[in-house]
Amino acid sequence: MSVILETKNVSKIYKSGSNEVKAVDTASFQIHEGEFIGLVGPSGSGKTTMLAMLAALLVPTIGEVIIDGVDLGKMSDSDRVKFRRENIGFTFQSNNLVPYLTVKENVELMLRLNGRFNKNAATRVEELLDRLGLSDRINNLPNQLSGGQKQRVSIARSLVHNPSVVLADEPTASLDSERAYQVTRLYADLIHEQKKAGVMVTHDMRMCVFVDRIIQISDGKIQSIIDDRAEIDNLINCG
Ligand SMILES: Nc1ncnc2c1ncn2[C@@H]1O[C@H](COP(=O)(O)OP(=O)(O)O)[C@@H](O)[C@H]1O
Ligand SMILES: [Mg+2]
Repeated sequence: MSVILETKNVSKIYKSGSNEVKAVDTASFQIHEGEFIGLVGPSGSGKTTMLAMLAALLVPTIGEVIIDGVDLGKMSDSDRVKFRRENIGFTFQSNNLVPYLTVKENVELMLRLNGRFNKNAATRVEELLDRLGLSDRINNLPNQLSGGQKQRVSIARSLVHNPSVVLADEPTASLDSERAYQVTRLYADLIHEQKKAGVMVTHDMRMCVFVDRIIQISDGKIQSIIDDRAEIDNLINCG
């Protein structure tokens, strides 16, 4: 299977005055199409920083992030913004839906921003919302939804423009465990079906039942990359 996302010796150093924090330290890995990765590690270990670099929101201090063969660090800022809009989808912990837009409008927004909203796209929005179990909520406002429903809208929004990479930072942090399982299972299914490269940061090891590999990070360094199912299950049971 082809590699969609690759990091090569990526480091991020935050500087403030004479203070330096090496938030990510020389990290290299590859993610293939249709592969769902769990990025785990203690608080402050560099997970969000890593995700921000994969999302082209943050440029590495050293090293390369390559998506679909394109080195994000070699682009102009405006090209990077365009690349992000077209090739990357995110889900955040707080789902940051636009409060005065309906479910359907929130999802359509990603396509309108790319100038790609048309009749076919409208059908795609409805199919995706249906797939996520939201067809009876399309005209509701975000504040009329449960936490799990909001996160599912957020997932629809991260996939609707058909990006090659989808990223989620603690998407289930505000959900009870039943809802968390439901949301993560759907997310994993869509990543597999639609052959995305997916990365989910999570504190909750139980959610790793749905991932194909786990990247463990500590103090900014990759400690291990685990793809053996028995080892993943073992980690889930201990974590
Ligand atoms: N904008 C920033 N400026 C300075 N230091 C930061 C910034 N963002 C994060 N850090 C530091 O980088 C390290 C990694 O943070 P982060 O990537 O948020 O970790 P995690 O998501 O695993 O909790 C922490 O020590 C954090 O304090
Ligand atoms: Mg974080």
